[in-house]
Amino acid sequence: MTRSPSDTIRDVLNRRLSRRRMMAGGGGLAALSFAPRTVWAPEPPVSPLGFEPVAGAAGDRVDLPPGYRADVILRWGDALFGDTPALDPERVARGALLEDGAAEAQARQFGYNCDGVGLFPIDEDRMLVCVNHEFPSPSLLFPGWSEARATRGWGEFVRRNPRSVAYMQAAVGVSVVELVHDGAWRYVLDSPFNRRVTANTPIEMAGPARRHVLLSDSGVEAPATALGTFSNCASGVTPWGTFLTAEENVDTFFGNRGAANLAPDLERAYARLAPRRRDSAYRWEYTDPRFDVAENPRESLKFGWIVEIDPFAPDRAVRKRTALGRFKHEGATPVLARDGRAVIYTGDDEAFEYFYKFVTAERFDPERPERNRDLLDTGTLYVARILDDGRGEWLPLVWNEHPALTPAAGFESQADIALRCREAADRVGATPLDRPEDVAVSPVTGAVYLACTQGLDRGSAEDGPAGRDIDRRADAANPRSPNRWGHILEFIENGADAAAETFRWEVFMLCGDPAAGSLRTTPVAADQAPADVDVTYFGGSADDEVLSAFANPDNLGFDSAGNLWIVTDGVQPRENNNGCFVCPTQGERRGEVRQFMSGPFDAEICGCEITADGRTLFLTVQHPGSGGSAISPTSRWPDGGDAAPRPSLIAVEPIDPDGKLGE
Ligand code: FEO
Ligand code: CA
Ligand code: CA
Repeated sequence: MTRSPSDTIRDVLNRRLSRRRMMAGGGGLAALSFAPRTVWAPEPPVSPLGFEPVAGAAGDRVDLPPGYRADVILRWGDALFGDTPALDPERVARGALLEDGAAEAQARQFGYNCDGVGLFPIDEDRMLVCVNHEFPSPSLLFPGWSEARATRGWGEFVRRNPRSVAYMQAAVGVSVVELVHDGAWRYVLDSPFNRRVTANTPIEMAGPARRHVLLSDSGVEAPATALGTFSNCASGVTPWGTFLTAEENVDTFFGNRGAANLAPDLERAYARLAPRRRDSAYRWEYTDPRFDVAENPRESLKFGWIVEIDPFAPDRAVRKRTALGRFKHEGATPVLARDGRAVIYTGDDEAFEYFYKFVTAERFDPERPERNRDLLDTGTLYVARILDDGRGEWLPLVWNEHPALTPAAGFESQADIALRCREAADRVGATPLDRPEDVAVSPVTGAVYLACTQGLDRGSAEDGPAGRDIDRRADAANPRSPNRWGHILEFIENGADAAAETFRWEVFMLCGDPAAGSLRTTPVAADQAPADVDVTYFGGSADDEVLSAFANPDNLGFDSAGNLWIVTDGVQPRENNNGCFVCPTQGERRGEVRQFMSGPFDAEICGCEITADGRTLFLTVQHPGSGGSAISPTSRWPDGGDAAPRPSLIAVEPIDPDGKLGE
């Protein structure tokens, strides 16, 4: 399909929808013989989703439909071990986190800014939970940080308060915690499984980039161990029961690249994912040279990976799986291919970046767990090329196979591809997307859903980001310019097999306010609706009365009935707080989005994992109160009073002990 500058979103989408009807009717593409969409379950179960939607809210609380209860399970600063004091949230504004011992305590407490959640059932009433702690919010942690804004004096703040860096480094990473259910979920103090991984935990490098010379300070083989993980955004649980945590905005943790004298191989490695030229976001480099690129030019290459943690083996090393490539991994969504190989979907969350999947070489072996331990070190990394006609292909990023991935083209090994993954994807012709975030796979149909959270520069006439020659115009997979509200794409792998090399795809949802005018499956005349950029599409659902307004989809999850659960991170169309939404993906009510939860002020909602029995939804509330400062936060959730706001893990359950989520 060709594009013209005058294409409207209606033109683009109507062409896609016409194509879809044509395919359904056995039209022009039928010869390609894609499998029907419901290969795994010919008669999809119809989920009730009978709850009364919450009105989008703007309060400092968690709102749920009638008949539901939210329990705060783990709050930032809760002690995981009996020998550790818990945080006193009323003392944060008085500088408690800068006191002697605060960082050491934080390294044994639940961390900050929780994001991705992984559930590991032990039995009906017991599980381990892994929770990511993405980044520190120093303006809420330390009185004086916000006040330094006028002079941008954060480097000075850190120099004067070196304990702030130790605190922030202990606040990020991952928590592993045991939970029990005795009427409600609660965490187990001092469980032998309780564990913190921080920015300073020794971690093994694994896969093709392990010991790569680019990671070496001496110019010879690099050590196999790195220190720490941070920027842990969304996550996944493997079929063999490990947690995958995704390192996302790692570039923001390193500063002073402008003062570094970089060797040509490093310049090239940084061409598409570089640490900050000047100050980092958190100023760690002012007291910790590991984060100063001029002093340690290679350190940042140890970040931007998928990291695997075995929550059941607290003594087993955490490993960075470099075979899955280095970029801003939003998350990692594992699923099994038809032949038993594992497939991990992962988005690269930055404007005009790509959608990837990794297919292991060997099969998952449920009988012999030790054989699954290093499955993620060998396999094929693919990147998506999404064609405007509704088809697409997975392009293998395999060294020396594609002419653009050879020594003559500057790639000496598979490790080079892993380290310069974005560059490799550029070369083979991947499709740039509007910030591809989390992925969820329907357990009913095998269809794959990708949240594209926002594309503010889509359609911009400005030059592209440095070093990139990209077409910023709207296309079928990114049909709005600018894309303020985000959208969700739906992929049907060929044969409903996650290891397939081709797929069909649809726009599943163009988020926003349905009151602005939503497109149905029938074409809408261009003069019938307001500005194109605000037009919405809810999987073909036509009932504007029922649909809830929402925008900036971030994490996704599925329940066992095939309903897609969506949490948001961004300004909402009616200026509501961020929340959680759900819709069927099949049947007459496909795309009928209803709001299930609304969060407190200035928080994004993350997590979005549902227990196998369909009763409990785990959500995380990230950076509540972030519009303010430690002295005057814009939220006091969840403790209220004078307490600092606390990022927390919550469990949402029906009050009826026999009830199920969504009913
Ligand atoms: Fe950490 Fe893309 O959200
Ligand atoms: Ca996210
Ligand atoms: Ca986010």
